[in-house]
Amino acid sequence: MLLEVSELSVSYGEREIVRNVNISLDEGEVLAIVGESGSGKTTVIRAVLGCLPHEGRVSGGKIFFEDKNLLENTPAEWSRLCGTKITMVFQDSGSILDPIARIGDQFVEYIREHSALTKKEAAKAAEDMLRKMHLPNTENIMKSYPFELSGGMRQRVGVAMAMFFKPRLLLADEPTSALDVTTQAQVVKEMMEICQQDQTAIIIVTHNIGVAAYMSDKLIVMQNGEIVESGRTDEIIARPQSAYTRELLDAVPQVGGKRYVS
Ligand SMILES: Nc1ncnc2c1ncn2[C@@H]1O[C@H](COP(=O)(O)OP(=O)(O)OP(=O)(O)O)[C@@H](O)[C@H]1O
Ligand SMILES: [Mg+2]
Repeated sequence: MLLEVSELSVSYGEREIVRNVNISLDEGEVLAIVGESGSGKTTVIRAVLGCLPHEGRVSGGKIFFEDKNLLENTPAEWSRLCGTKITMVFQDSGSILDPIARIGDQFVEYIREHSALTKKEAAKAAEDMLRKMHLPNTENIMKSYPFELSGGMRQRVGVAMAMFFKPRLLLADEPTSALDVTTQAQVVKEMMEICQQDQTAIIIVTHNIGVAAYMSDKLIVMQNGEIVESGRTDEIIARPQSAYTRELLDAVPQVGGKRYVS
């Protein structure tokens, strides 16, 4: 088992926001978390990454990654893990890129922070990775500032950086919701291809149960900080147990009597 979260609770101040969350994930498996706004999806993945906002804390449970309890990690152990073995893609990668530094310089700096590559080696490897994410004219992109790229291109840069060190676990929080539907589908597909090659497990948070159904092996449905449904995606889609899951599925548009999700 790559990741085993058991009975996780998270509180902000005195308020317990997330209760009794259980997750198990094998190498290369894809888990989608869906649920309404405010249900605690971001909170759960931030707890796994060890980067809750400072008023937030894990108030109960365990998080085992590669058989080690992450909650016992020292700050030095966290920083060795995050950015290499566990990485994250955000809703808008543009917001984590430095607006006044060129893409190439940022990527090279990130690589050199976590490896012993020379500047030249890192630049070549970065450009190769951008090409893997199907970015055109990678030489130009390396020299560009974030604002000179489209949203889809910035998001691909974010995924390229997150996948650079072949992480064991990629956490993706609404990675494509800022993009138009066609670009969303392309970026998700490219991200999945790289993850499959590297056997990277994914936890993806999405509002779109259609996206979740398309890409995930396992599904968790959250409401009010709790899991209301959890299991194999195909089984949940075929036979949803909770009323809330049925509601989400009913909201997916139907084409010719057939839902997008099936
Ligand atoms: N820094 C914080 N301090 C206090 N409460 C917070 C903080 N961040 C989130 N919360 C609360 O925790 C709950 C869960 O928030 P979270 O961001 O995990 O939801 P979410 O499912 O990711 O929602 P969305 O789909 O809108 O991104 C919400 O009630 C929110 O108000
Ligand atoms: Mg969120």
